[in-house]
Amino acid sequence: MADENQFTAIVLEEDDERKVTAGLQTLPNDRLPEGDVTVGVEYSTLNYKDGMIVQGIGRLVRDYPHVPGIDFAGTVEASESPDYKPGDKVVLNGWRVGEVHWGGFSSRARVSGDWLVPVPDNLSTEQCMAIGTAGYTAMLSVMALEDHGLTPESEGEVLVTGAAGGVGSIAVSILSNLGYRVAASTGREDTHDYLKSLGATEIVGREELATPPKGPLSSERWSGIIDSVGGPTLHSALASLKTHSSCAAVGLASGFKLETTVMPFLLRGINLLGIDSSTCPKERRLVAWDRLSKELPLDKLAQVTSTASLADVTDLAGKILQGQVRGRIVIDTGNTG
Ligand SMILES: NC(=O)c1ccc[n+]([C@@H]2O[C@H](COP(=O)([O-])OP(=O)(O)OC[C@H]3O[C@@H](n4cnc5c(N)ncnc54)[C@H](OP(=O)(O)O)[C@@H]3O)[C@@H](O)[C@H]2O)c1
Repeated sequence: MADENQFTAIVLEEDDERKVTAGLQTLPNDRLPEGDVTVGVEYSTLNYKDGMIVQGIGRLVRDYPHVPGIDFAGTVEASESPDYKPGDKVVLNGWRVGEVHWGGFSSRARVSGDWLVPVPDNLSTEQCMAIGTAGYTAMLSVMALEDHGLTPESEGEVLVTGAAGGVGSIAVSILSNLGYRVAASTGREDTHDYLKSLGATEIVGREELATPPKGPLSSERWSGIIDSVGGPTLHSALASLKTHSSCAAVGLASGFKLETTVMPFLLRGINLLGIDSSTCPKERRLVAWDRLSKELPLDKLAQVTSTASLADVTDLAGKILQGQVRGRIVIDTGNTG
């Protein structure tokens, strides 16, 4: 149990030359930001965006000192919100927490109750953070593809790019569990067995997609796409998407630019679906979390997850940006004992 008067957090500070440094600090509760619900944070997790924020990349944070961590799960300690009472288990993803508002790399957080969702009955706070924004975004992507007609009976495989990363690993697990055939694209040979164990039916080398086709279209291959990579990979993938199929654009691990042609849209009627987990409305979040609690096999979740402490965050932030993290990392805030 945390000290009731103070909390421990990763604090980012910016020097006069705009260099950002991260360190573990103990702060009094009166440093917590505004909000109507105070949560004893038990677990957080590391996402690609956390890596950028901790390393001060992309100017995502404007005000320092800052507590990063775009996700957390824990127990309500105090609440002025009619929706929550002390003892409730809650999870938070996004809403620019950890970016504009102080976040989850902390043993305590104070936020708006509107940003929280209850932990589903059959998940623990630790499992919620094993899922984290990455897993919840993977489910939003599956839902978007299904809303646009994808079914397990659709012809062809669903392509998941950046497959050994957090979004990718959970997308492969969910799709496989739902009966889809999944082509997992990865740049790391040592992850092939891992991806097959999550249910990938085919492995596609990263290089195969890294160079876009010379013409506007390639042969039709994918029944759907979940893309964490962006750039030329997304260009190549779109050119092979089957007629009237859809791609969920999730990430930018290889870059934020997209140079392509309108031909797959005009000649094949494909759809490019943007996924923004951070501002996703609460009703859709509740559906996504309910489905995650039922449709993501927990043995596979355990298989993709490792655990670290708040003190490890700075080192791991660099690793996730270099594509060296496999699957999901849960951050134990030390607040569970
Ligand atoms: N839209 C949203 O709401 C939302 C939510 C969450 C995350 N995201 C974005 O989604 C992306 C993935 O997030 P994550 O948490 O899964 O990150 P992650 O764990 O670091 O996974 C990213 C994966 O992309 C692949 N990759 C890395 N660098 C690459 C490169 N230069 N070229 C091609 N592939 C590369 C790697 O997969 P392999 O090793 O398998 O090749 C890596 O594991 C990030 O860009 C993140 O910002 C967006």
